[in-house]
Amino acid sequence: MNMMKAVLLDKITDGKDITLAECTVPEVKPGWVLIKVKAFGLNHSEQILRHSEINAPYIQKPVIPGIECTGEVADPSDTDLKTGQKVIALMGGMGRSFNGSYAEYALLPRRIVFAVNSDLPWEALGAVPETYFTAWGSLFECLHLKREDTLLIRGATCALGYAAMQISKALGCRVIATTHKESKLTLIAEADEAVIDDGRLTGKLHGVTKALDLIGPRSLKDTLTAVEKGGIVCQTGILGGVYALNGFDPIKDIPNGVYLTGFFSNYPTQQIIDEIFAFLNEHHLVPKSGKVFDFENIREAVIAQDEGKVNGKIVVYI
Ligand SMILES: NC(=O)c1ccc[n+]([C@@H]2O[C@H](COP(=O)([O-])OP(=O)(O)OC[C@H]3O[C@@H](n4cnc5c(N)ncnc54)[C@H](OP(=O)(O)O)[C@@H]3O)[C@@H](O)[C@H]2O)c1
Repeated sequence: MNMMKAVLLDKITDGKDITLAECTVPEVKPGWVLIKVKAFGLNHSEQILRHSEINAPYIQKPVIPGIECTGEVADPSDTDLKTGQKVIALMGGMGRSFNGSYAEYALLPRRIVFAVNSDLPWEALGAVPETYFTAWGSLFECLHLKREDTLLIRGATCALGYAAMQISKALGCRVIATTHKESKLTLIAEADEAVIDDGRLTGKLHGVTKALDLIGPRSLKDTLTAVEKGGIVCQTGILGGVYALNGFDPIKDIPNGVYLTGFFSNYPTQQIIDEIFAFLNEHHLVPKSGKVFDFENIREAVIAQDEGKVNGKIVVYI
């Protein structure tokens, strides 16, 4: 029987309690692709899974966490993919309702596996799937971002914020980025304006036509009043720790002529993945990561995530 190493969760788990277990390499089945995982990024949502969501009934237990990965097709099963093909995979229930990527192999449904044509090293590719797909969808599908826009990125000191900043700057936008920590202003110096967010931005910014809110319901009402008339606000992150807004009154809380949208990364497509890699290639962008850990050191990677010590995407390399 072929064995592999993986992280298995069945209860609320602190970073320091993460271990690598031995388990069997999953057997392929029709419509599912076996991937030899080369690198994967850590995500805030996996932290939420470890800290609380693991108890939800829709979570398979034990579960191998990990909502994204990059690697090579080890066995395409009956799909159109080829053995050895370079792929990325993300979301669609990965690491929640079926096993995810914190493993040497992942068996994933074909619908969330996408071919990639890229010479980027695995460690750089590992920073792409969830973060760049979410940044791309928020900026283009939701905010209809154009070169002439002034984009506010609220809560920019996270992997998603750094990716959104890189993409929007490459596009040619004027970017205003915020952090709630003065010590982190230098990390968002790539923006045209780096601003401290004390919870109230309304009246302090000028000319904001698009806003990507990564803090979430905690700051949403203020973001809606911080943009110009005709502006669009995209609610994508929940870094503020508030997940839903009770008592939200759309008539009064959304200013006249301001538009509110939200992005959910659950529906990736090959077309969007191709667009992202074409953009990265065209603008010679190397996807940003904060720190790369070896798979053997996954515990340290997860502890670093819990301690918030890494600025940017944590990538694990196998
Ligand atoms: N809608 C979707 O489909 C989707 C997809 C992906 C991610 N997301 C969400 O997008 C957000 C960013 O995800 P990520 O994976 O890029 O996160 P991440 O890299 O893990 O970022 C975590 C960091 O955000 C920083 N942060 C900035 N402002 C903060 C604030 N006001 N409160 C708390 N922390 C703050 C924290 O550092 P400092 O406090 O030191 O600055 C923390 O270390 C998360 O809320 C995630 O759930 C949503």
